[in-house]
Amino acid sequence: MAKRIGRNDPCWCGSRKKYKVCHEDFDRRIEVIRNQGHPVPTRNMIKNPEQIQKIRESAKVNIECLDVVADKICSGMSTSDIDRIVDEVCEKYHAIPAPLNYEGFPKSVCTSINDAVCHGIPSSKEFLHDGDIINVDCSTILDGYFSDSSRMFMIGNVSDEAKKLVEVVKESVYLGLEEVKPWGFLGDMGQAVHDHCTKNGYSVVREIGGHGVGIEFHEEPWVSYCTKRGTDILMVPGMMFTIEPMVNMGGPEVFVDEENGWTVYTEDGSLSAQWELQVLVTEDGHEIISY
Ligand code: MF3
Ligand code: CO
Repeated sequence: MAKRIGRNDPCWCGSRKKYKVCHEDFDRRIEVIRNQGHPVPTRNMIKNPEQIQKIRESAKVNIECLDVVADKICSGMSTSDIDRIVDEVCEKYHAIPAPLNYEGFPKSVCTSINDAVCHGIPSSKEFLHDGDIINVDCSTILDGYFSDSSRMFMIGNVSDEAKKLVEVVKESVYLGLEEVKPWGFLGDMGQAVHDHCTKNGYSVVREIGGHGVGIEFHEEPWVSYCTKRGTDILMVPGMMFTIEPMVNMGGPEVFVDEENGWTVYTEDGSLSAQWELQVLVTEDGHEIISY
């Protein structure tokens, strides 16, 4: 049990403000909701303003990586060309691509084409073709702080079906985002994402989700998009996590490539799409940190 903080002591969040003007009311409010039986965030899930500012700086680099990819991506390019773009932008800011060497991941970015759900490994032997859809998932470490977001790109002439999948998944992420506000529940976001995707005939991958992020690459909470309104963890100001549903045109089942141990594919070979935002819960709603 932590020692009780005096009202005039520095707040536990590291803001250097007095507890009574910082998180005292907040702690009381959380306690009420905990007593109603809801899971509530622990203190290590709450970022202070200085940390948030550092994470925003990291995200600027992450956003630039994806902006440059967006500008250059085209048919005929290899996925290792995308990896090189990410390396170059990171180098410019003395940033580190977070995936590189992460649990043995060999490249700087994930590139997942068509039926690849996530964690595709860039290769100089894999080329983008007209009609492909690809997710580029970028994560950056700047001065020790983490940012993480991903976007879909459509290469050349993409079928109407594939285009619709990509657009619906993007819409679902922004519908989920609208539900991100303090004193709501993570399941409010999860259900908004899930409903929009399933209403359009798609399925949401259950076993892989989002995560807290900022101080580390993957923090609590784990973020599902198969949850119900009013359930899952309470959202409070200072929490930061990703909204990154993986959505399949066919069934929700997936498998991991046995050869590389990383790349996840749809079991039925159907197309899969994913968009990822990094969001902060603020006092009055949310802020997009990386996109
Ligand atoms: N943004 C992805 C995630 O949060 C990046 C994974 S990096 C990898 O899971 F190294 F694990 F592939
Ligand atoms: Co992520």
